[in-house]
Amino acid sequence: MQGMSLKPLPEDIQDEADLEEIITTPSEAVVEYMSSVEGDLVILGIGGKIGSHVGIMARKAFDLAGKQQQRVFGVSRFSDPDKRQELEAAGVDTIACDLLEAKEVEKLPAARNVIFMAGRKFGTQDRSDLTWAVNTIAPALAAEQYAGSKMMAFSTGCVYDLVPVSQMGATEEHATAPLGEYSNSAVGREQVFSYYSRKNNSPTCLFRLNYAVDLRYGVLRDIGDNVRAGEEIDLGMGHVNVIWQGDAVQRALLCLDVCDVPAVPINITGPETAAVEYIARRFAELLETEVRLTGTPAQTALLSNAARSFELFGYPQISLETMISWTAKWISQGGRSLNKPTHFETRDGTY
Ligand SMILES: NC(=O)c1ccc[n+]([C@@H]2O[C@H](COP(=O)([O-])OP(=O)(O)OC[C@H]3O[C@@H](n4cnc5c(N)ncnc54)[C@H](OP(=O)(O)O)[C@@H]3O)[C@@H](O)[C@H]2O)c1
Repeated sequence: MQGMSLKPLPEDIQDEADLEEIITTPSEAVVEYMSSVEGDLVILGIGGKIGSHVGIMARKAFDLAGKQQQRVFGVSRFSDPDKRQELEAAGVDTIACDLLEAKEVEKLPAARNVIFMAGRKFGTQDRSDLTWAVNTIAPALAAEQYAGSKMMAFSTGCVYDLVPVSQMGATEEHATAPLGEYSNSAVGREQVFSYYSRKNNSPTCLFRLNYAVDLRYGVLRDIGDNVRAGEEIDLGMGHVNVIWQGDAVQRALLCLDVCDVPAVPINITGPETAAVEYIARRFAELLETEVRLTGTPAQTALLSNAARSFELFGYPQISLETMISWTAKWISQGGRSLNKPTHFETRDGTY
C-alpha cells in the first residue's frame, strides 16, 4: 500500500489551492515512515519548484503521525518572499541563508535529518562558475555543518549520458557520463556528498530525479503548451521519463530511509519510456486541435531506469494518462504557468 493516498483523487484539478493540496498530501506510507523518524528535519534550498512541497508534506506527515514537536526547518535565500509566507503558514520554520556563505551556514540549527535541494541549472552558459559553486561548494558546506546527520541529496538523471531507448533507461550501475557543464557539476555535487559521507560517517542518498511534473511546469506542460499554440513539436529527443511531483516528493521523504555510508544513488522517475510523439498526439486529442510534428526520434535519449525505487516504494500513484489529462484541462482553463521550460529536448547538455 505504498502509494495509497489519504484522500481520493479528483478527475480535474480546479485551482492552485487544489493542486497544492493534492501534491502535498502524504500517503499512508509516508505518514507511517515519518512516525519512525527521530529528530528534526532541515530542508536546504527549499525556495524552488519542489522545495515547498517537500517541506509542507513533511510537516503534515509529522503532524498526522502525532509528532508535532519535531520541527521542519526550511532554508533558502527566499528570492521569492511569497514562498516564505506560504511555508510559515503551513508550520515550516523558515530561515533566510545563503548556502554559499560559510558564516551563515554555521548558524543553521542542528538536525538529524537533512534534505539538500539547492541547485543551479539554467543560466549556466553565462555563469558556469556560479553553477559549479552552487552545485559543489554549497554541498560541501552543508555536509560539514551536518556531519553525522542523514543527508538526502537531490541529484538528477542528467548524470547519465544518452542511452538507447530500447534499454529501458540507465540503472544506478550505469557509469556517470554527463553531457555539458550543468550535468558535470551535478556529478560534482554527488561526488562531494559521497566524499563527506565517508569522511563524516553521514548516511547519504543521491536522489537522481528525472523530470517532475507539476501542472505549472514540467515536460508535459511544455509539450501541452506547444501543441495548444500550434507550434511544431520536435521529435529529436523522442523519449522521456516523467513522474508526478507529489509522487517525487513522497519518495524524497521515504529516501531518508535509503541513506547509508557510502552514499547510495537511486533513480527516481516514472515507469514508462514515454514517447514524445504519443504525448503530443494525446494532448492534441484532449485539447481538440491538430498536432504538428517535426524530426525523427533518435535511437538514444536521456532515460533512467527506476526499477529499484519501484521495488522499494511501489509504482508512483499518478499515471502518465492522469498527468496528461490533468495538464490538458489545466491548460484549457488558463491555469498558471511558472514559465520555466525544462528544455528537455536538449541533446548536448546545454540547458
Ligand atoms: N524539478 C525537476 O524536475 C528536477 C529534475 C531533476 C533534478 N532536480 C533537482 O532537484 C533539486 C530541486 O529541484 P527544483 O526544481 O526545486 O530546483 P530549483 O527550482 O532550481 O530550486 C532550487 C532552489 O535552491 C535555492 N538556492 C540556490 N542557490 C542557493 C543558495 N546559494 N543559498 C540558498 N538557497 C539557494 C534557490 O532558492 P532561493 O532563491 O530562495 O535561495 C532555488 O530556488 C535541484 O537541485 C535540481 O537540480 C529537479
